[in-house]
Amino acid sequence: MRMKRSSLFAASALLQNVTASVGAEEIASLFEEASLDRQKFWAKQAECIEWFHPWQETLRWKAPYAEWFVEGKLNASYNCLDRHMKSETRYKTALIWEGERGENRSFTYEELFLEVNKFSNVLKNLGVKKGDRIAIYLPMIPEAVVAMLSSARIGAVHTVIFGGFSAEALKDRIVDAEAKILITADGAYRKGKVIPLKSTTDQALLDAPSIESVIVIENVSNKPLMKEGRDYWYADLMKEAKEYAAPEIMDAEDMLFILYTSGTTGKPKGIVHTTGGYLVGATMTTKLVFGSDPKDIYWCTADVGWITGHSYVVYGPLSNGMTQLIYEGAADFPERNRFWKLIEKHKVTILYTAPTAIRTFMKWGEEWPSSCDLSSLRLLGSVGEPINPEAWLWYYNHIGQAKCPIADTWWQTETGSIMVAPIASYTPLKPGSATFPLPGIEMAIIDDSGKEASSGYLVIKSPWPSMLRGIYNDPLRYKETYWKKWDGEYYFTGDGATKDDEGYFWLMGRVDDVINVSGHRLGTMEIESALVDYPLVAEAAVIAIAHPIKGQAVVAFVTLKDKALKEPFLEDALKEHVVVKIGSIARPEKIIFTADLPKTRSGKIMRRLLRDIAEGRVVGDVTTLADPQVMREIQLQYKEEND
Ligand code: PRX
Repeated sequence: MRMKRSSLFAASALLQNVTASVGAEEIASLFEEASLDRQKFWAKQAECIEWFHPWQETLRWKAPYAEWFVEGKLNASYNCLDRHMKSETRYKTALIWEGERGENRSFTYEELFLEVNKFSNVLKNLGVKKGDRIAIYLPMIPEAVVAMLSSARIGAVHTVIFGGFSAEALKDRIVDAEAKILITADGAYRKGKVIPLKSTTDQALLDAPSIESVIVIENVSNKPLMKEGRDYWYADLMKEAKEYAAPEIMDAEDMLFILYTSGTTGKPKGIVHTTGGYLVGATMTTKLVFGSDPKDIYWCTADVGWITGHSYVVYGPLSNGMTQLIYEGAADFPERNRFWKLIEKHKVTILYTAPTAIRTFMKWGEEWPSSCDLSSLRLLGSVGEPINPEAWLWYYNHIGQAKCPIADTWWQTETGSIMVAPIASYTPLKPGSATFPLPGIEMAIIDDSGKEASSGYLVIKSPWPSMLRGIYNDPLRYKETYWKKWDGEYYFTGDGATKDDEGYFWLMGRVDDVINVSGHRLGTMEIESALVDYPLVAEAAVIAIAHPIKGQAVVAFVTLKDKALKEPFLEDALKEHVVVKIGSIARPEKIIFTADLPKTRSGKIMRRLLRDIAEGRVVGDVTTLADPQVMREIQLQYKEEND
């Protein structure tokens, strides 16, 4: 899908005009300061938030553990709310919410402050204490933001679980985090239908004994069952709550949240972020990448269930006092121009979305955006997966109307905030490249031996404030996943990348057993575990194949147990089983039933060879296989199923 480099340079020349250097000197000096003394640079950046007590040391680094802003005291909710009470921002709109059916609600910073204070008291009344974990399983409604900020306010640790995850996935995360409270809604709207979140919750809670209370927000009024003594309506609790809750004084290194993400084993990892460094990273990068025009109406389309929703819906924008839109619903409801109608109606100036969405819009056709007034837009953003140059140019021309720079932002749940991205008005763009690391971020591309190369593994060379502090309850996995490959010297991102002659970074996707479907991270082993959980399945191997819209799609190779026959219902039943175990984002595109899987003599499944078959390439070296003949059979089977 990649374009020839020559056409990229032609396009970039065009973009130099658009990104002419406003504030260029200031940005250049940021890069300069960071390269001269990185810690001094971060110490200065940390002034972008308010501290109750200053820190004593900028960084204490004992690889692979970092402590940033040592002994500094702060509160994240205070930074997103209370500090704005002292300025005109108090009366500014913080959130504009639109529901799928067109309803609107909005909150000024003062109103949000009040709601968060009251809800903080609700949580305290239910016995939540500093350090307790709170699970949040909500659609994109303002209460999701309120719940996260209230948790932060009282020093609890939130773990937000994407509303599209199944009961089983929800349960696993609650159990791992030992969450005490669950905040959910009666349901969510999606394409005109109601998704009954509360009944999914009830199912999950059959086996999650740590939960003491469930708080339910009425969103769709579908009258769910409420369990006496465990379940409470949000509105009832709020009626009785006092109006002010003092923010807890948090240490810079106190945990702010755990967010589960997929890795290379069957079990998702609880990525731990702490308060000080994370908030500095989210606040500083929001300002740097998206700018700080007080009149901006910013819209990040990510769900709060993902890291993008944490850093660039909640903490970054609110800490910067921005006005933002949040939307609960689908992009094609009631019609395929819903996003563009939202931009027109709310005069959105910054749109931050994912390449999968852009490719879907391309498929739907430019007549949908062109029928709406998008002239309010000034900046576009992209996140979550590599953006192919065709999609980049379509986004630039048809949404940005050839006047808005695109910030292609590379980062991860683990990095907490944007690492590689252009700075609008400063960095000349190249369609499909996330350009350069931000100031203060030292990245490199290296080969197996750890030497810098123009193509290879993407690594981060030195600690940064918003880096993960570990995997919840699993220090060994933290070391092995991110630090072992180069003996603690580099943080390994799991991505491959190349650098061109001008030093631009081109992100090439994952090089491990993690796949990226529509910008959602899934572990191949996680899906394999779901498949082998089905009684008739003996073994499964999952790979990703290139997909024109989703970026990647899941293909599963499955062998059945001895006597099991491949019944016609089985393919659908297995797909459904994966949905039940994980959620619809993991539904396999294709299931291929084979008699055997390619394994080495030590029993390791060679997914690489399966990828060769699925992508129609010449099959690689099979000499290490226990039985090379297996490949011929799988090839024939694959061909048969695809003809
Ligand atoms: O492979 C990279 C891809 O998404 C992975 C991180 O996924 P997650 O933790 O779910 O966070 C997604 C939102 C930040 C990365 O390892 N990725 C993310 N952004 C980009 C990207 N790949 C290419 N270009 C990007 N801009």
